[in-house]
Amino acid sequence: MQKKMPQSFRWLLLAGSLGFALACQSAPALDKVEVDTRTLFADSCAKCHGADGQAKTFRGRLLSAQNFTDTKWQTATTDEEISKTIKMGIKKMPAFEKKLSAAQIEALAAFVRTFKPAT
Ligand code: HEC
Repeated sequence: MQKKMPQSFRWLLLAGSLGFALACQSAPALDKVEVDTRTLFADSCAKCHGADGQAKTFRGRLLSAQNFTDTKWQTATTDEEISKTIKMGIKKMPAFEKKLSAAQIEALAAFVRTFKPAT
């Protein structure tokens, strides 16, 4: 009985990696804009706001960056405020108006909304 354990574990691993491979396969099906926005967020915003939007990064904590998964903040903040912050910056957050296009800023503003927890 004991000898059988590693065998079944191996099957479990195989099944797991198969599932992972399938999940990866479906990635290109994502909307291109969304993929680019995700990369843009990872490149420009995640060092402070975190890849998961929770701002639990070193800089995020240091500068008290906004946690995007905070339902209260998501509800209290308008789309215009989010776009404006990205364009002009706010306190310790730099402005992105000169670094990004208007379309990129709009896409990022929408992306910030995707961190809102499901209710
Ligand atoms: C250098 C760190 C840093 C980077 C990079 C950064 N932010 Fe911020 N961000 C902050 C900080 C700090 C705050 C909180 C400002 C405050 O005190 O109100 C903030 C706040 C925000 C807010 C909330 C504004 C509000 O009205 O409450 C949004 C939205 C935001 N950031 C989006 C972004 C996006 C999108 C990017 C990438 C393009 C980005 N940030 C990049 C540091 C950063």
